[in-house]
Amino acid sequence: MRLEGKVVLISGGARGQGATEARLFAREGAKVVLGDLLEEEGKQVEAEINASGGACLFVKLDVTKAEDWQQAVAAAVARFGTLHVLVNNAGIGSTRGPDGEPVTMEHLTEEQWDRVMEVNAKGVFLGTKYAIPAMRQAGGGSIINISSIAGIVGGHGVAYLGAALLAARGGLVANPFLFGALQPVVLGTVVLLGALAGLLPAVLAYRTEVAENLAPLS
Ligand SMILES: NC(=O)c1ccc[n+]([C@@H]2O[C@H](COP(=O)([O-])OP(=O)(O)OC[C@H]3O[C@@H](n4cnc5c(N)ncnc54)[C@H](O)[C@@H]3O)[C@@H](O)[C@H]2O)c1
Repeated sequence: MRLEGKVVLISGGARGQGATEARLFAREGAKVVLGDLLEEEGKQVEAEINASGGACLFVKLDVTKAEDWQQAVAAAVARFGTLHVLVNNAGIGSTRGPDGEPVTMEHLTEEQWDRVMEVNAKGVFLGTKYAIPAMRQAGGGSIINISSIAGIVGGHGVAYLGAALLAARGGLVANPFLFGALQPVVLGTVVLLGALAGLLPAVLAYRTEVAENLAPLS
């Protein structure tokens, strides 16, 4: 097991990628704190990981609220003694209209824009801000941002998402802590991945840029 003794805090861990990340961290021996708005789903993931021999704690977390982050970090330290890894995974995707289609920029309201920025950009800032002191106490740590290909290239109905996701990764490129920004394309959609293959050179160039900006935590 590669993460024995490590403590990880994952935002948006109640379902989707965050829940999968939690299971993977636990399988590798890490103690996992899941934070999410969704209490029922979060507690189910917590119970599943604990039942399979892992160590997991669910905490109610709204990533847009500073006090929630402070409590989540405090809960990680209180339960598991320390904090080594933060995964800023929580995020919201394209805003959908009444027809179920993504709302394009011209129809996006200011409130919808503010919400995207609050969750996808400010949420990452707050998580990072409040995790760093605990990681310093631990002697080091890693911060992983789950961004998106929408943070690299534009697309129909996701232009405003790109701004928030770019801000999220940009903020940490400038941060001296060890971090990684992951840019999922569209998970589980093989046809779409094929269609997006033309974007590969841009993605690879970006990944090289990120790798060159990685700095070990001092
Ligand atoms: N699935 C994809 O294809 C894809 C592609 C690109 C990027 N991403 C990114 O990956 C991350 C996870 O995506 P997913 O597909 O698992 O999405 P999802 O919607 O299944 O999960 C997101 C989780 O974040 C939580 N969340 C939302 N707002 C929150 C808030 N204010 N506070 C706390 N938790 C909150 C949700 O409750 C949910 O549990 C997101 O940041 C998303 O932007 C996903």
